[in-house]
Amino acid sequence: MLAISLAVAVDRSDVLVLPVRAATDPDHPAPTLVATTPPPTDEVRAEVEALLPVARLTGRPGETLSQLRPGRTPGRLILLGVGDGGERSWRAAGAALARAAVAETHVTFSLPADVTDGVVRAFVEGLLLASYRYRLGEGEPPALTGVTLLAAAPQALTGAVETARTTARMTRFARDLTNTPSSVKTPQWFAGQVASAAAEDPDLHLRVRGPQELAAEGFGGILAVGGGSASAPRLVELGWRPADARLHVVLVGKGITFDTGGISIKPVSAMKLMRKDMAGAAAVVAATLGAAALRLPVRVTALTPLAENMVSGAAFRPGDVIRHYDGTTSESTNSDAEGRLVLADALGYAARELRPDLLVDLATLTGANAVALGKRTGALYSDNDELAAAVLAAVDEAGEAAWRMPLPADYLEYLGSDLADRHSSPARGAGSVIAALYLREFTGELRDRWLHIDMSAPSWADGDDAELTRGATGWGVRGLLRWLATLG
Ligand code: BES
Ligand code: MN
Ligand code: ZN
Repeated sequence: MLAISLAVAVDRSDVLVLPVRAATDPDHPAPTLVATTPPPTDEVRAEVEALLPVARLTGRPGETLSQLRPGRTPGRLILLGVGDGGERSWRAAGAALARAAVAETHVTFSLPADVTDGVVRAFVEGLLLASYRYRLGEGEPPALTGVTLLAAAPQALTGAVETARTTARMTRFARDLTNTPSSVKTPQWFAGQVASAAAEDPDLHLRVRGPQELAAEGFGGILAVGGGSASAPRLVELGWRPADARLHVVLVGKGITFDTGGISIKPVSAMKLMRKDMAGAAAVVAATLGAAALRLPVRVTALTPLAENMVSGAAFRPGDVIRHYDGTTSESTNSDAEGRLVLADALGYAARELRPDLLVDLATLTGANAVALGKRTGALYSDNDELAAAVLAAVDEAGEAAWRMPLPADYLEYLGSDLADRHSSPARGAGSVIAALYLREFTGELRDRWLHIDMSAPSWADGDDAELTRGATGWGVRGLLRWLATLG
């Protein structure tokens, strides 16, 4: 990961980056150089001021202009648009700098004189997330290895840099897990990755249940979905238990390591990206590791049911009746609605055995998420207004997006079944909403302290865009960490 350092000055800078703010006065549409400490030399300042009116810059976040200065120091100057100076703009600016400077080995950036923790955090997150690559080692490694941030009082900003670094490291971990091909990413492999990451911290507790334990304890949904695969299912339970915690949060994440649809097989185009069907599990594990790394004073347990939904002679069938952890049964008429079956077990276990204060789940649950909200926005569900507002605010501040959706009582009748307590995949109704209503059935006494996010759509990016890179986005890690930090 790109090295970020803070300093009052640098001995010699080959590349100096200066922030420019978008014009606010329509009569003078040129952007302005942001006041920094230390200020640029008189020579550099005069040059930038001569450049700005002719450079056709707007100062919009992420805009860059690279100016060569042969024979002089610095030898290259980059002007970086920081828009309105809000955190979202700073995140985009950091991301743009990571891309504009890929061919440099090191750059120096002057922070504004009125810099805040929020600005530094957003900027560093942008730098570290946009410079993410999966499959490092193949192709040219990026030349850029270090960024020095200049500030008048660097020690006051070390906490913000550290928080940004941990948030980015965990988001990158979630991206790595989600980008990994499913031939590698078996449930056992995923559990092994969590074990390696957790081994770094003695305050993290890990329990991994294999197929025998799942059978002995009645996790019928996980076993049914995982039954068709040569790679047996797992249930990972990862706990961060600080001594000073007042609240306990359980984070459940859907961990389908590949979703063929099962016997109700998906068509080619819909199956193409189904290695990402464990992005919820990756996000909740990474957020829990992040809570531990940041020493957040809140108890967190990540619970990830891991299974591969395959087609085979051992696969579960449409019309089967599945008995869940809580003892209730589901009729499954579509083996492609597998996520809710494994989540039902995990939610039931959390509500009955872990009895947390709050229960949150993240899942790449339905294609309907993108139909309703497009490619960037998660669908958030909760009966608890306060909890919904707090999570929405944290997700938004973190630079992610979610929109609250309803849980209408009218649609509950769709969950009726002649064979079982519930029907898991009714053909009627709004797909993402029905799935959320189904999950709520398993939350027991936590029904009013439960929140679900269908994050199928924003878990993947089709191309590079600000802090997102093509492929897995690590969606949810940033928002969850922001939210958990408010619970201390
Ligand atoms: N993993 C899919 C949902 C999905 C679709 C995630 C597209 C990301 C992108 C899920 O298991 C699924 O297949 N859902 C079905 C539910 C239906 C059978 C009730 C769907 O959305 O079509
Ligand atoms: Mn499916
Ligand atoms: Zn799925």
